Amino acid sequence: MNVNQISDGISICAPAKINLFLEVVGKRKDGYHELETVMQEIDLADNLTFREVEEGVRLECDDMSIPCGADNLVCKAANLMIRECGIKKGVLIGLEKNIPVGAGLGGGSSDAAATLKALNTLWGVGLTDEELMGFAAKLGSDVAFFINGKTSLCRGRGEKVNPVKVKNKFNYVVIFPHIRIDTVTIYKNLKITLTRKRKDVSFFLDTLEHENEVSVGELLFNRLEEPVFTLYPGLLQLKNFLERFGFCGLLVSGSGSSIVGLCSSREQAEGIRDKIISIGKGDVFVVTNTLLP
Ligand code: C5P
Repeated sequence: MNVNQISDGISICAPAKINLFLEVVGKRKDGYHELETVMQEIDLADNLTFREVEEGVRLECDDMSIPCGADNLVCKAANLMIRECGIKKGVLIGLEKNIPVGAGLGGGSSDAAATLKALNTLWGVGLTDEELMGFAAKLGSDVAFFINGKTSLCRGRGEKVNPVKVKNKFNYVVIFPHIRIDTVTIYKNLKITLTRKRKDVSFFLDTLEHENEVSVGELLFNRLEEPVFTLYPGLLQLKNFLERFGFCGLLVSGSGSSIVGLCSSREQAEGIRDKIISIGKGDVFVVTNTLLP
């Protein structure tokens, strides 16, 4: 996530993420769930611009379905910075939305992290990435990951971020089936049974670092698929339908609704994308784990 100077302010890209692995380790006293999740930044991104104004935080978005009031995570991020750092200036924020909403792709969280990074530069606040991650964790469980992005094992609520290595540039197809899922509902419907066998993240991480897409694909895992498929049986049908394309691995990202397929090549990914688009199953993106220059 690089901050760029524009004539009267700055701009920044806010990339989406997919979860390659997500295990729920337990339920916490504060109501949150303890996670082990591997988050992967992908090259599908929103674009934000920041222009200094005398006072207040104003957000303008090209997607009319997105509320731009104080409850938007972008405004919350800006107001948090103003409050915590004693800033006496305001900002006009422009948000060009490309990442689908309610899709398990972390768009809102990434926009919030981008806002913290951009305002740190615009207002010359001088916070370190570690300090920005502290602010990020106050805004939401996924936000801290996006401060450094790339690939990380995230623990705790998701806010304890440890970078991990990936052997290859992998090609993924992301299918957004035009369903918006509320994360809270998915966690509420998750049944934690003590007898179930916990999936081992260290084996997955080892495979991600040393093996190819065939081995990684076999180990893609998301514990939240259980409640997602119970509440949205149409998504289970879609996943079953997508199996015919011969992905190395296929899973729901985060709390849904996107379904992610790991491919053996860019060509395979583009071929599958074209077929899914022609059948009309939703928005389809071909992405990789490195940002385009
Ligand atoms: O932290 P964030 O606001 O993104 O989380 C949204 C909701 O998702 C929480 O209110 C909680 O219901 C659920 N959640 C959870 N355990 C996590 C992360 C989120 O139960 N680790």
